[in-house]
Amino acid sequence: MVKVTAASLLEMKKRGEKITALTAYDAPTARFLNDAGVDVVLVGDSVGNVKLGYENTLPVTLEEMLHHTKAAARGNSRALLAADMPYLTYQISLDEARRNAGRLVKEGGAAAVKLEGGIEVAGIVKALVDLNIPVMGHLGLTPQAIHRLGGYKMQGKTEEAREKMITDAKVLEGAGIFALVLECVPPDLAKAITKKLSVPTIGIGAGPDTDGQILVTDDLLGLTQGPVPKFVQPYADLKAEISRSLKNFNKDVKEGRYPERSSTAVPGEPIPQRES
Ligand code: KIV
Repeated sequence: MVKVTAASLLEMKKRGEKITALTAYDAPTARFLNDAGVDVVLVGDSVGNVKLGYENTLPVTLEEMLHHTKAAARGNSRALLAADMPYLTYQISLDEARRNAGRLVKEGGAAAVKLEGGIEVAGIVKALVDLNIPVMGHLGLTPQAIHRLGGYKMQGKTEEAREKMITDAKVLEGAGIFALVLECVPPDLAKAITKKLSVPTIGIGAGPDTDGQILVTDDLLGLTQGPVPKFVQPYADLKAEISRSLKNFNKDVKEGRYPERSSTAVPGEPIPQRES
């Protein structure tokens, strides 16, 4: 089994091979992604709104990210495992950024970290790369800036904003990122940035011309309970399936159909140990 690394993603860009990336916050999901051949497993700070019931990603703590990164690492085998650095774990000082990114790698088992922002985080990117931690950048709709951005909307619409995003992308590349997430960016701008960079771009709501695509796995599988961004093309409707199954179990127990007598454990017969 050949592991995906930051260097192999660069090779994929050179070969014109598309990169796939999805989120996982636990071991079984990471295992599913690996079995499907997904290249990058991201323990996103989207765990905050997707799994922990927060309104946005801002309350997510390093300890929560460590907990979920460790779990995903236990299910990961081949994919590159990247962990998001949550809000305020890298912006305060370079020392804090180094320590927190180092913990995600050393304790969490991540092979890379992702952080949001442009030129203002370039020094942090360089400090982490100097510590041998591969860093993924994130431009466009950066959820940790939700209050400044004033909502979840497409970024890079004005000429000035486009120019700034191109400059930010080049500066991040110069600082040493190995890949760049472009979230909710006009497709022509994402294409232009993709052409200008030698490191791969991974788009989400940024059109088809980035070097790869990333999605929140729950959105892809139809598991998300609230509204889902328009750019998501769902591949399943698991929410409906889960709801149907749970209602059926509830009804079957109440009406005496579950459990069937024949399904009861036989004395002395081993009970299989549960795995994730
Ligand atoms: O936190 C996250 O899941 C992300 C992806 C949506 C890119 O940053």
